[in-house]
Amino acid sequence: MVNNKTKQKSNLVEQVNPEEEALFTSLRVKQWNEFHGQSSIKESLKITITASLRRKEAIEHILLYGPPGLGKTTLSHLIAKEMGSNIRVTSGPAIERAGDLASILTNLEKGDILFIDEIHRLNKVVEETLYPAMEDYALDIIIGKGPSARTLRLDLPQFTIIGATTRIGLMSAPLRDRFGLVHRLNFYMPQELETIISNAAKKLKVKVDRESIKEIAKRARGTPRVALKLLKRARDYAQVKAGGDIDKVNIVQALDLLGVDPFGLDSLDRRYLKNIIEKHSGGPVGVETIAASISEDIGTVEEVVEPYLLQLGFIKRTKSGRVATKHAYEHLGKKFVDAPAGAKNQQKLI
Ligand SMILES: Nc1ncnc2c1ncn2[C@@H]1O[C@H](COP(=O)(O)OP(=O)(O)OP(=O)(O)O)[C@@H](O)[C@H]1O
Ligand SMILES: [Mg+2]
Repeated sequence: MVNNKTKQKSNLVEQVNPEEEALFTSLRVKQWNEFHGQSSIKESLKITITASLRRKEAIEHILLYGPPGLGKTTLSHLIAKEMGSNIRVTSGPAIERAGDLASILTNLEKGDILFIDEIHRLNKVVEETLYPAMEDYALDIIIGKGPSARTLRLDLPQFTIIGATTRIGLMSAPLRDRFGLVHRLNFYMPQELETIISNAAKKLKVKVDRESIKEIAKRARGTPRVALKLLKRARDYAQVKAGGDIDKVNIVQALDLLGVDPFGLDSLDRRYLKNIIEKHSGGPVGVETIAASISEDIGTVEEVVEPYLLQLGFIKRTKSGRVATKHAYEHLGKKFVDAPAGAKNQQKLI
């Protein structure tokens, strides 16, 4: 997929970040059949791809969103591969000016895919330049300044934008609406992660028994990237502390050493929950307050910590803030005291 055209990229069009690159080289998914889970999204994409290929048209613009590490970037590359298209990779913050976008778009060819990661971070001016490009394959360029300024409309080839974001709530409605297909990637089921782990173990040439695979899947917070990282760490541990094979004894030791508990919670998740329970009597408390008091970036809290805790039912999001549930208290071995009736009324779910 990385063809000459992709290599001749400008610095606005980058490949992938170094950490991702490292994961990609060894464990990257290169075929549809290696991409497990997300079956309804895959089904829907396959139909759209087949229809576009039959009509010999560019595929509609696609927006993929969901928590980090669920496969948005991977899926985008697979779509390009299936379409037989070139893919150019860039990101919201990399496109600073409308001119940057113009230079990327005017270098595209018919059928090309432009992957914009972190699309919620596009600035307003760039975003507005993108609207006619997405809708009419046209670019409006303003020439000159003041009263003599005029707009020149440039035609663009039919191309596709695939946008990815972990924060769809931060995207403007007009931008969101310009995507023909919008898919939310969900956390994976343990069985799906087991298949992903077992395939990755084969690629890494490491022996892992069934129970260990289950253990990793259980603690991978529904996320392939986490599963793959845990597998790699477990492999290191087994190599140093045992004969090299991952088994049910050394896997638990390795995962405990990493501070990942049986529900997949790490030290940050536990600090977050303890903060709500111990410092704010279980909530409700605003996310800014929690982030400040555990000295963590609010984006990390909202994008990484909360989605998984919500999924586990350990927290609730209410109008007046975050609330720790009975499950969270029990998980941390704390006594649950139900909120007084008055406080409960304020805790309307949002
Ligand atoms: N369904 C899947 N099957 C197998 N491997 C997967 C799957 N989804 C993701 N992976 C693997 O998990 C890793 C992370 O995936 P990817 O980089 O595509 O996630 P992402 O959603 O783009 O994350 P981010 O939001 O951080 O950019 C990659 O190594 C990828 O190969
Ligand atoms: Mg990505």
